[in-house]
Amino acid sequence: MERTLVIIKPDGVQRQLVGQIISRFENKGLKIAGLKMLQVTKAQAQKLYEAHKKKNFYAGLLKFITAGPVVSLVIEGVQAIAICRKMLGATFGPDADPGTIRGDFAASISYNLIHASDSAESAGYEIPIFFHPEEIISYQLNDSKWIYHPEEEKELGV
Ligand code: CMP
Repeated sequence: MERTLVIIKPDGVQRQLVGQIISRFENKGLKIAGLKMLQVTKAQAQKLYEAHKKKNFYAGLLKFITAGPVVSLVIEGVQAIAICRKMLGATFGPDADPGTIRGDFAASISYNLIHASDSAESAGYEIPIFFHPEEIISYQLNDSKWIYHPEEEKELGV
């Protein structure tokens, strides 16, 4: 069982795609363990994009993610990190395959709608930037027995 950080970026909020994007994760059978709307602070943005500090697009990244409210989620499920990354599609809208979130909704390189942690290590680093431990809820989904096979459930502790 994994948890990953997903952020619907300011363009996703402004384009009123929040519901459609969240529905995709729910439809896949992933669980929402945390959810909030917030204005990203400069300090949070710097921490999130620490790895890109030396890149020429770093200043633009900070400006974009702090340009308006975002919706952040902790998404939980078996292999949730890899599944969410696949669901997002390629980083840049024009490269993203149809059927992915960016492939279906993003035409821009800079405005790419959504972020998701790219590894377990990143998720462990990124989730606490946006969520206090008590804001992440452990609970059983009512129909989880129809999302995972019973043997899978036992094995994976779903
Ligand atoms: P995200 O998945 O949020 O995390 C890092 C972001 O950097 C990525 O989305 C892109 O928005 C951005 N990014 C990566 N490479 C480039 C690039 N070459 N030019 C502009 N932005 C980039």
